[in-house]
Parts: sequence; C-alpha cells; structure tokens
Amino acid sequence: MSLNIVILAAGQGTRMRSGMPKVLHPVAGKPMLGHVIDTARTLAPRSIHVVIGHGADLVRQRLQADDLNFVVQAEQLGTGHAVAQATPHVSAEQVLILYGDVPLIQSATLQRLLAKAGPDRLALLTVTLEDPTGYGRIIRDASGSVQAIVEQKDATAQQQEIREGNTGILVAPASRLSDWLGRLSNNNAQGEYYLTDVIAMAVADGLVVATEQPVDAMEVQGANDRIQLAELERHYQQRAARQLMAQGVTLRDPLRFDVRGEVQAGRDILIDVNVVLEGRVIIEDDVQIGPNCVIKDSTLRRGAVVRANCHLEGAELGAGSDCGPFARLRPGAVLGAMAHVGNFVEIKNSRLGDGSKAGHLTYLGDAEIGANCNIGAGTITCNYDGANKWKTVLGNDVFIGSNNSLVAPVSVGDGATTGAGSTISQDVAPAALGVGRAKQRNIEGWKRPEKIKK
Ligand code: UD1
Ligand code: MG
Repeated sequence: MSLNIVILAAGQGTRMRSGMPKVLHPVAGKPMLGHVIDTARTLAPRSIHVVIGHGADLVRQRLQADDLNFVVQAEQLGTGHAVAQATPHVSAEQVLILYGDVPLIQSATLQRLLAKAGPDRLALLTVTLEDPTGYGRIIRDASGSVQAIVEQKDATAQQQEIREGNTGILVAPASRLSDWLGRLSNNNAQGEYYLTDVIAMAVADGLVVATEQPVDAMEVQGANDRIQLAELERHYQQRAARQLMAQGVTLRDPLRFDVRGEVQAGRDILIDVNVVLEGRVIIEDDVQIGPNCVIKDSTLRRGAVVRANCHLEGAELGAGSDCGPFARLRPGAVLGAMAHVGNFVEIKNSRLGDGSKAGHLTYLGDAEIGANCNIGAGTITCNYDGANKWKTVLGNDVFIGSNNSLVAPVSVGDGATTGAGSTISQDVAPAALGVGRAKQRNIEGWKRPEKIKK
C-alpha cells in the first residue's frame, strides 16, 4: 500500500527552556527532527508532511528539502488537531505518524509496524514500561484486543495501573483517519483534540487495532528537557560505538567516543579515548587515532596514524602517513603515502607528496610539495599578500632549511636546497642552493650593556 508520513513538530517544548524550537535541538550534531526525517525517508514514502508551529520559520529554514511538505499548525490544539492539518495533503492509502522530538525510532521497527497495518487494520506502536506515568494507557478487552487509549490525565486510578503505554506512533488507512479526525472533540481533561481518540473510533468502525513494540524503549523516548536530550545523545552514541566495534574497530573506551555524522570504517582500527568524528569520515584498515582528536569530513587511508590532540577537517591522510601530536589539518590538506607531519604544524589547501616531511612548527598554505621533501622546523609559506593568495610549488627531493619564509608565488625545483633562516622570494632552480639571509658579522670584544646604578 502507498504510504504518506506525517511528522508532528509544532510543540513548543517549554521544558527545554530555550529560544530554539525543541525539534531543532541536536542529537549527535543533527536536529532531532532531522533524524526523524532521515528515518522516514528510509521507508520510501510517497510524501512526507511536517507539521510545524512554534518557531515554524526557523524549522523550515533549517530542514527545507524538496521531498518535504511543511504544514503550519498556527495554534497547538492537540495531536489530533495537528495531524488534521496535514491530512488534506495526504494522497496515499496509508498514513504513518511520527514525532519530531522522538529521534531514535528505527526504520526496522517501523517496517514491522507497517507490516501489521492494512485497509481495515490500524497498527499502533506501544511500549510496556516499569513506570508509564505521563503516557496514554492502552485499554484492552478480556480477549486482549485493543479498545481505546486513555490519557494519563483522563485515566481512572485503575487504568493508571496499566503499564502498556502509547508511543503515539501509528499507521492508519488515510481516508478513515481523515474521517475520524473530523469527528474529534476536545471535551477532556486537557481541552485538546487527542489523536489517541481515533483508536476507539476505529474499533467502533470494526477495524482491528494491531500492536507492535520497539526492540528498545529508548527508540520511542521523546526529549522534553535537556536531561532527556542528554540521555538520547548517550544512547545514540552507545549504539554508534557498538556498530563500529562489531565491524572490527577497537574503541579504547566506547563511553568516551562520539560520532556526529557518518563513519565508514574498515578493520583493525584503533581509536583512543575522547575522539570526536564529524560529518563524513572514512577510515581504512589499520588506522590508529590517538586520544583527544577531532576529525571532520576526512579520509584516513590504510595504516595512517593520527597522534594525540589533532584537529582534522576536510583532510586526506595517505596510506602509512602520520600526523601530530597537535597537528591541524584544514580543508584541502592532502598527505601522500608515508608522509609525516609532526607537532604544531598547520596545513591548508596543500599537498605534501609521498614520503615528504614537515616535522615541527610549520604553516603550509596553498602549497604543492613533491615527494621526499623535508620542510625544516619553523618554516612558513607566506601565501597571502593581504589581498590575494598565492601558490608555493616544490619539486621532489627538496630540502627546505629550518625557519624559512617561502614568499609566494615561488617555486623550488627538484633536488634544490634552501639555507636555514632564508626568506625565499625568488624561484630556486633544480639542484641549486637558495640562501636569502643577512650575512653574519662578528664584533670582537663586544661589551654587554650594564645595569644603571641608582
Ligand atoms: C502524547 C499522547 C500519549 C502518548 C505520549 C507519548 C495524545 C493525546 N497523547 O501525549 O498518549 O503516551 O504522547 O509521548 O496524543 N504536537 C503538535 N501539535 C499539537 C500538540 C502536540 O505538533 O497541537 C506535537 C508535540 O510537539 C509533540 C507531540 O505532538 O512532539 C506529542 O505532543 P505532547 O503534547 O507532548 O503529547 P503528550 O501529552 O506527551
Ligand atoms: Mg500534551
């Protein structure tokens, strides 16, 4: 059956105590609503409708995409009212309802739920909890068939004993749902139009209400405050850590490891504590990452080593190369195979060829460096003249002495050498020596200044 998905995301989230709409608060670096939308997409629905209200403009701006239809619910009159704002846009036979503040719901769970739904079957995701306070309770008859949902605030003391709660996630036949929503009343303890009232209506119309449960209760946990948000974050991170370990990645401590994006990892990778991976990170076999590294949108080829306290963004490390401790690789930094970058080295938009080394205290910007070069300690490229950026080009087997300033645009040919302390502002021919420093003179018998006596 064709499917439409409606995601409720209009609520304020008062308990977040935030100027930002609740559904934009991030889990693993992505707005909660973004997680729900991505999971919805895995079900390949005909359309996705997002009901927004509080901070509608901001939510729309942040998550705008061609496959999303945003529907504004100007006043939050209840979950039933919220879904009713979207139903006129629904074109498919079935509707799945999700929540923008329930970010960890899994595609597999939703698929199991969808399998239980049909033209005359409503499928409801429920959860059995030790303490279901706050949840709507699932009312079943003697034979176990679902009859209704009663909200906590409307429940009798006896009904409050029921431990099976409503997650709010359900699949219903579309035309029936519109009909039921049109007949809701707000004559209840909260004066709201409850989506949950459609269950009793479905039963009255002779539909079967089938139920399914999530594998893990955290899948259906919403974030109402920052404490719950942190719990969801930790749960997400544990799941991500377990997945990587299952693939052959050793995490020195899975509790001190964070993924905020997507990681593609090989085998026999070793990741030390307090590593944060962001965006799209590709890690090939046998890579080692030391403690306290932030690695964003980067590729680490086979056997590369990132030592402690490195910051990588938009970088590529060649096979067997290494960097750090304390290296900063900025966008466009590319290290060839077996290249070496040591401590306090910053590289931006530059290629360091195979086997080349920049061991200490160096800045390389907009540079093209060949194979087997050695960049002496304290060397910098002067790539910016205050108006434009210029390139520095080094051939193969170049030896740049310590503390050089390479004033771009400039090139140093294959096999050339530069003297320590040089300011290289003219091209150096292959195999030549470039020296650009003041000549030393020694003054004999020099007297040091003496302290003036008072
Ligand atoms: C709802 C369910 C309850 C269930 C619980 C699970 C109803 C009446 N009750 O209660 O049975 O156990 O969720 O967490 O459905 N929203 C809108 N517009 C509105 C009202 C709500 O978009 O007018 C959104 C909220 O932003 C939120 C979600 O719907 O994401 C749930 O609303 P909320 O008021 O938190 O529902 P509960 O009272 O918790
Ligand atoms: Mg409520």
